[in-house]
Parts: sequence; C-alpha cells; structure tokens
Amino acid sequence: MLELKNLSRHFGGVKAVDTLDLSVKKGEILGLIGPNGSGKSTTVNLITGVYQPTAGTVTFKGQDISQMPPHQRCELGLARTFQNIRLFGHLTVWQNLWAARVVREQGWAGFKQRWLSGASAAREEAEKLLVFGDLAHKRDMLAGNLAFGEQRRLELIRAAASGAELLLLDEPAAGMNAEEINDLDNRIRSLRDQGHTILLIEHHMELVMEVCDRVAVLNFGRKIAEGTPAQVQADAQVRAAYLGTDEPQAA
Ligand SMILES: Nc1ncnc2c1ncn2[C@@H]1O[C@H](COP(=O)(O)OP(=O)(O)OP(=O)(O)O)[C@@H](O)[C@H]1O
Ligand SMILES: [Mg+2]
Repeated sequence: MLELKNLSRHFGGVKAVDTLDLSVKKGEILGLIGPNGSGKSTTVNLITGVYQPTAGTVTFKGQDISQMPPHQRCELGLARTFQNIRLFGHLTVWQNLWAARVVREQGWAGFKQRWLSGASAAREEAEKLLVFGDLAHKRDMLAGNLAFGEQRRLELIRAAASGAELLLLDEPAAGMNAEEINDLDNRIRSLRDQGHTILLIEHHMELVMEVCDRVAVLNFGRKIAEGTPAQVQADAQVRAAYLGTDEPQAA
C-alpha cells in the first residue's frame, strides 16, 4: 500500500532520514520505532508531504506521491495524528470530526449537499466514531477544553473520520496512563479490523510489541532492523541503539 524507496531528508548536515526503504502492506499494523531524533516524525512528514524529500520516492497505492501537496495525499487516503496534539481547539468535538469528514466529500460543495439532504450515512458514521472514541457525551465541548486523554482520542477518531485507508499515528500513547494505553491498544486493533492499515510510531514498547504485526527500527535516520516484534526485540543492533554503547565497561 505504501512504499518508501531510498527516501532521504537532510537538514543541513543532519541526515534526519537516510536512504530509507520501507513498505507498509494493506491491512497490517507496522510499528516504526527508534531512539529520540532517529527520524520517525520526519518520515511521517515526508509521507504526508509536510516535507519534500532530499532524495527518494514515496509511492502510495501504486502512485508516486513524492511531489504531491498534503491535501491531495489526504484525498488519496492518508491521515495522521500528531506527536503534539493538533486539534481545531475552537471547534467542538463534533465539528472536528465533521471537518475531517468533509475532506472525504471532496470539498465544501459535497459537504453542503450532504448536510442539506440530511447527510444520514455520513452522520451515522461520525456518530459511531464518537461512541468508538468514548466522546459522545462531550460532542458539544470545544476541543481545546477537553482533557489530555480525550484530545488524544479525538485526534485518533478524527483521522479515522477522513476515511483514510492508511493511518499514520505519531506517538498516540505519549502522556497516557496505563489504562488509557490499554484502551488505545484495543482501539488500534479495532481500527485495523474496520479496514484501516496502520503505521504506528511509539516509544511504549509494550504497546508496540502487543499490537504490531511487524516492526521497523530507525537509528540516525537509517533502518537498522525489521521483522516480527520478537525478532526485533532480540536484535543486537537494536539493543545497542536503545541502550547506547557508552556504558562503563566492567573492570
Ligand atoms: N525542521 C527541521 N529542521 C532541522 N532539523 C530537523 C527538523 N526536523 C527534524 N530535524 C532533525 O532531524 C532528526 C530527526 O528528527 P525526528 O523528529 O524525525 O525524530 P523522531 O524519531 O521523531 O524523534 P522523537 O522520538 O524525539 O519524536 C533530529 O536530529 C531533528 O533535530
Ligand atoms: Mg517524533
């Protein structure tokens, strides 16, 4: 579904992403992990078109989208959440969902038409997502006034509301407690069961190991390992990347 080939993005001397080959298959949950600053968010920004690659290509559903503006990539079926939550804080929970749904109607014209005609199917779908995100009781609250965990849930269902086939989740568990992470685990699986393919960036290893079919590991912008969660966990290079190599040697 998604293919990154020789993808690189350099910022001055920093090789944030460096000759990365990665593919995400339809229906899978692929984990993308790596230490801080290893290039995970930059990869998402390259996939969604926030950044242009220094070299390499991004292919989505067989189409080279490397030079496509972000909104077109969105219309093609890509959606994301942000490491630092970015909701429309002055819109209500419901309006945040609608804004994402509108994208799918290809602009305001379609949206208005559906709205005026009762928009029943679209509304039902959004209502279901509200319940799925446990936010039905907060529907008229401004997104900016939600509690942190609720904002994370709204970001997730907003991404799903766009109808995107591929969801890019950039550290969705950041700042969550154990119970919230457990809920998130179930929601991510459920989104996959509903037909979404998922690229999951996470630091919470338990979540990654439990929920992902495959895991790829970045270090200094390069992929150093890829495989099942168990394979990656046992990989010596991965362990070195996470633990560092500058530990004091035993005397
Ligand atoms: N816009 C930018 N300008 C300059 N350097 C950047 C920019 N974006 C990212 N970088 C650098 O690229 C490298 C990779 O950053 P990135 O945010 O992709 O890492 P990450 O794996 O998402 O890290 P974290 O786990 O902390 O979120 C870092 O060295 C970062 O400082
Ligand atoms: Mg990041």
